[in-house]
Amino acid sequence: MAAIQTDNLVKRYGEVTAVDGVSLEIPEGEVFGLLGPNGAGKTTLISMLATLVRPTSGSALVAGYDINRQSLDVRRQIGIVFQEPSVDDLLTGRENLYLHSMLYGLPRSEINGKIDKMLALVNLSDRGDSFVKTYSGGMRRRLEIARGLIHGPKILFLDEPTLGLDPASRKAVWNHIRELKNAHNTTIILTTHYMEEADSLADRIGIIYKGRIIELDTPFALKKKVGQDLVFLTGEINEEALKKLPFVNSVEQENGHYKIGIVDSGKNLQALLNAGGDIKEVEVRRVTLDDVFLKFAGQKMSEDAEEHAEGIFERIATIKTRR
Ligand SMILES: Nc1ncnc2c1ncn2[C@@H]1O[C@H](COP(=O)(O)OP(=O)(O)OP(=O)(O)O)[C@@H](O)[C@H]1O
Ligand SMILES: [Mg+2]
Repeated sequence: MAAIQTDNLVKRYGEVTAVDGVSLEIPEGEVFGLLGPNGAGKTTLISMLATLVRPTSGSALVAGYDINRQSLDVRRQIGIVFQEPSVDDLLTGRENLYLHSMLYGLPRSEINGKIDKMLALVNLSDRGDSFVKTYSGGMRRRLEIARGLIHGPKILFLDEPTLGLDPASRKAVWNHIRELKNAHNTTIILTTHYMEEADSLADRIGIIYKGRIIELDTPFALKKKVGQDLVFLTGEINEEALKKLPFVNSVEQENGHYKIGIVDSGKNLQALLNAGGDIKEVEVRRVTLDDVFLKFAGQKMSEDAEEHAEGIFERIATIKTRR
């Protein structure tokens, strides 16, 4: 059974279609990364799956339960860490975790031990007894993460979990996500604007744009779709010889070095260097998820921006003629 199965999920807010017919299947134990520009519908999609927002139409099963008809059962199976921290300011960190553990019916005898463990995980052991209103932004977020994880949910929704965290805290959260997956087979749906995070954590990535999934594949396959690695060379370069190589896609000159697009640098770099002339420096940049994001979402964004700009110019022209 899939951990999550959605069928044509739609959410409209008045004129805005935030999620526009998403059908997805996420197997148990998968880390699924959801990427997309601001306003693409990421938070809305996972809010529907977490039963915090009602779909306009469509349906989904989460851990086998229907989000429209069995929201309480769904809620028992999931953990959520949302974009906006919702921990209680007037309680201490420890009290927040205690309350949450009671709500989820953790055995009393285990609660304190678990709280200690979670506080240590998010590096808040020494601040557990301070009021949350005295926490910094990053500390609140870390507490929020501890709360989402403490009851050991089967399915975890993480909406930009590492936003605003310092590099060490971010790495700690990444390691914990990996451990949840490997040791507990937890299914994790993660949104992020950090491409490196998605690349290193996600088994598969969905790129969402204007409420629709426009690409869905493994990070590796997505990078392969975008194509090529870039090799930067400086020195006395034999441009003509490079252009003749079958695995070279493009040769450009840029700020005193050559920028060469090449298929599979792992296999072909040596041949490139042999043919390239008197090379002084070499730098290789493999295709990253940033490139993937820019290609798929970025292209659409600039097309839409152009259309939008045209619309604005037309409107200004109309206003002017009316005057
Ligand atoms: N409660 C709401 N009322 C009206 N419109 C909403 C509401 N929630 C979201 N929207 C709209 O739905 C669209 C999708 O928003 P959503 O928050 O899902 O985007 P997102 O992908 O999470 O963006 P971000 O990366 O900025 O967090 C946006 O146009 C947003 O303005
Ligand atoms: Mg969001």
